Amino acid sequence: MLLTREEMTLHRDAPRFAMATDRDAILRALSHLFYGEIGAVKIGQWVTKAPDLEGMLEIVKQTRDETRHTAIFRRLLQQYKAEPSQEVLRDMDDLHVAISRTWEEMLFESMVVGEGLALILIYFYHDVIADPAIRRGLQRVIRDEESHVEYGEKKIMEYLARKPELRDHLLAMQEQLIQHYSGVITGQTPADGLEEMIAEFPMAIIQMHVTRLQRMGMV
Ligand SMILES: [Fe+2]
Ligand SMILES: [Fe+2]
Repeated sequence: MLLTREEMTLHRDAPRFAMATDRDAILRALSHLFYGEIGAVKIGQWVTKAPDLEGMLEIVKQTRDETRHTAIFRRLLQQYKAEPSQEVLRDMDDLHVAISRTWEEMLFESMVVGEGLALILIYFYHDVIADPAIRRGLQRVIRDEESHVEYGEKKIMEYLARKPELRDHLLAMQEQLIQHYSGVITGQTPADGLEEMIAEFPMAIIQMHVTRLQRMGMV
C-alpha cells in the first residue's frame, strides 16, 4: 500500500471504549461495520464485467473476503446478544452510492477511494476499542482490506500509465464522492462518544486520501 498504517492512524492513545462501560456505542460501531461489509459484498456484481481472468479472480477473492467480514461482525454482535441496529441501517442508506460505469471507474471508486477511506476508520475502531475479541476480528478484516486497497492502487496506476486521459475523469469522480461522504457525515448528529470522535476527523481523513492520490501521481 502507498500509505503505511502509521500514516493512516487517527488515534494514538490507549483504547478508550470497552463493552463493559460503552456497550451501546460499541454495538453501534459493530452495526456500522456489519452493514458496511454487506455493502462491500456488492462488488461481486463486477465478476462478469472483468476485462481479464486476473481481474475476475480478484473480484471473486474480494467478494469472498467481504462475505467473511460480514460473518465476523455478525458473530461479534451475536456474542454480545445483539442484532444489527435498524437505526444505523437507515443512516447508512445515504452513504452507499455507486457511480461507476466502467471497470476502471469501479476499481478507483471502490478500492482506492471507498476502501481507502473505510480502512482509516477500521484502523480507528481497532485502536479505540479495548475488547480483545473485537480487536482480533478487526485485525483479520484489516489484513484483507489492505490487500484490496493495494490492488486498486496498483491497477489504477497501470491504467493511468497507458491511458493518461483517464486521470481528470477519475479526479472529478473522487471529488464528487468525497463531497457526498463528507456531506453525509457532517449532516448526522453523533449518537455517542465514539461517533463524536469520528466527527472531528473529516479533514484529517481527507488529507490522508489526498496523500494517497499524490503518491499515485494523480495530483
Ligand atoms: Fe470488508
Ligand atoms: Fe474490501
